[in-house]
Order: sequence, then C-alpha cells, then structure tokens
Amino acid sequence: MHTTTSILLLLATATAIFCTEGVAVNPAAAASSQAVIAAAAATASNLPTHYEQSPASRDRITRGTNDMLPERFFGNFELDHSENFDEYMTAKGYGWFTRKMVTFATFKKVFAKTNNPNTFDYSNLTSKKDVFYKNVSLGKSFTGEGLDSKKKEITFSLKNGHLFEHQKPLEEGEAKEETYEYYFDGDWLLQKMSYNGVEGRRYYKKTQ
Ligand SMILES: *[C@@H]1O[C@H](CO)[C@@H](O)[C@H](O)[C@H]1NC(C)=O
Ligand SMILES: *[C@@H]1O[C@H](CO)[C@@H](O)[C@H](O)[C@H]1NC(C)=O
Repeated sequence: MHTTTSILLLLATATAIFCTEGVAVNPAAAASSQAVIAAAAATASNLPTHYEQSPASRDRITRGTNDMLPERFFGNFELDHSENFDEYMTAKGYGWFTRKMVTFATFKKVFAKTNNPNTFDYSNLTSKKDVFYKNVSLGKSFTGEGLDSKKKEITFSLKNGHLFEHQKPLEEGEAKEETYEYYFDGDWLLQKMSYNGVEGRRYYKKTQ
C-alpha cells in the first residue's frame, strides 16, 4: 500500500462511530433566527414564572441553545495523547503500518469565531494535510473535503454540551461513515470514537 495514501485514508476514517442518534440533523434549529438565539442566551430560569410558553416555543428555546457552539470550544487545541486508539483502529480494520503512521502524525484543531454568532470556522491541521471548514452552522450539513481529499457530507451538531462531527463519504474510497464526539474532561478536549464496542479516546490540550 502506498504510504501517503494509506495514511490519508486512515486519518479521514480514523474517528467515526455509531452514535448517529447524536448527530440528527436539525433543520429547524439551523433555521433559527437571531431572536431565538437571544432568547436562548437568557436561560429558562431567567424567564418570569408567569411567562406562558407554548410547548412549541419552549422547544424552540431549548433547541436554540444548540445553535451555538459553547464558548469553551473556541480556541486552538493540540493532540496530547491517546487511549485505546490503536485498538480502535485495529477494530476498524487498519493495518499495523497505517496505525503507526497515524501515531506519528500531529493533530491540531482550531475552532474560531466568525462575524455571525451562530457559525464557526473549523480547522483540522495535521502533519499530512490541513482541512478548513468555514462558517459552519450546527445541525446543517455541508460538503467538505476529508483528510483523504475525498468529498464527505459533514454535519456538526450539539447534544447535551457535546459536539458531534459526523462524516459520510460521498465518493468511493476506503473511508467509512464516522462520528466523532467532543467534550471536555477537566481541561482536556476529549475526542471519542468507537467501533463495534471498541472505544478510542484522544486528548487535546488547549494551546491558546
Ligand atoms: C480531523 O482529524 C481527525 C483526527 O484527529 C480525523 O480522524 C478526522 O477525519 C479529521 N477530520 C476531517 C474533516 O478531515
Ligand atoms: C454564514 O452562515 C450563515 C448561516 O447559514 C449565513 O447567514 C451567512 O450568510 C454566512 N456567511 C458567509 C460569509 O458565508
């Protein structure tokens, strides 16, 4: 197998999982107006008790909070260490050589603000290839390039403060459908992925 090709394929497929329920696309949330965002910013407990909310508006407010990436995610993160990642990749069917190559690649992630309060820019920087997704809305799918340079349907969504990145290959290749889950474990940004019950974890350190 050609070294670079196999690495790129692995990088692109290394993470996804089966938590598809966590990445349900939410067109209603994506379409939310600024007003809903503003309402969401005022927490439900701030609402006067006599304030009558229809179930629909209550629902909208709840989902409205899911339109925005929590403040904590913004910044630069660098891969520090992994747990059970080799086992995960083995479960996914990657060979020894590819797994070792991925172990030696560096990974950085950047979540940056845009002029729009409910979108963000995402960069996935590795020693092999950089991938940039601009103006991402939570719950709204878009077509982007994976680390293997093939097109994917990508959806970021938020559930209970956890960020999910779902990638579905749109072009033929070795890449599989994948979901990565991100959340904070103490000061670490934890990236979780699992396949057939084998869970891999990668820990990122905030660098700025
Ligand atoms: C970003 O990097 C991870 C490895 O941390 C990789 O598994 C994933 O496929 C990359 N995402 C994209 C969109 O290339
Ligand atoms: C960013 O996304 C938002 C929401 O989809 C859209 O309203 C806005 O026009 C986009 N901005 C740019 C610069 O593409």
